Amino acid sequence: MSNLRLGVLASGRGSNFQAIIDEIESKRLNAEIVLLITDNPSAFAIERAKKHGIEYLVMRPKEYSSKDDYFIKIAEELKKRDVGLVVLAGFMRIVRKPLIDAFPNRIMNIHPALLPAFPGLHGQRQALEYGVKISGCTVHFVDEGMDTGPIIIQAAVPMFQDDTEDTLSERILRFEHKIYPEAIRLFSEGRIEVEGRMVSIKGYTLFDTIIVNPPA
Ligand code: GRF
Repeated sequence: MSNLRLGVLASGRGSNFQAIIDEIESKRLNAEIVLLITDNPSAFAIERAKKHGIEYLVMRPKEYSSKDDYFIKIAEELKKRDVGLVVLAGFMRIVRKPLIDAFPNRIMNIHPALLPAFPGLHGQRQALEYGVKISGCTVHFVDEGMDTGPIIIQAAVPMFQDDTEDTLSERILRFEHKIYPEAIRLFSEGRIEVEGRMVSIKGYTLFDTIIVNPPA
């Protein structure tokens, strides 16, 4: 079976992008990142792409006639390279319909909270300010809403009394780096089925989709 071809969209430091690169390079994930697209010319993700010989494009929304046009052009670049799964890794924009329609249930995102709680910006800060005792992260398919698409895997992360946004973010991030490559691996193995909001994973029990142990 040929490798799954990934297109990654990122706006910032790209630590999730790096976690996926590492999984691929260590042969734990049978996939290939064929393109990084960023909306931010100073994103550190670009340095990571250069270091690992991954093609990248800087595409800034203001250079396009409309938001839809921007996502049409992104979809075209991804299609040109025969991308099978689009991976949002800290991409700070709401994806519009033209891209979603071009890749139905083929766009994933990671969010630093247990959705549907605390969608949008600063999921970790929202959880802290709300006073929940458990938070975490969620990998989901992308629809037109803000962090509303079907949920694939979640990791539950404990919160401590003296947590700050930084300490909590750091703890959650370690889980992000585990569950994102895992969700991509399941996709690459053809094990993810979606029916409406329901995602089932072949060979998994319900409990396998919730990771509660700290990653090694
Ligand atoms: C992560 O916290 C992710 O959950 C959110 O944006 C952040 C991106 O971090 N969507 P990085 O760029 O992958 O380091």
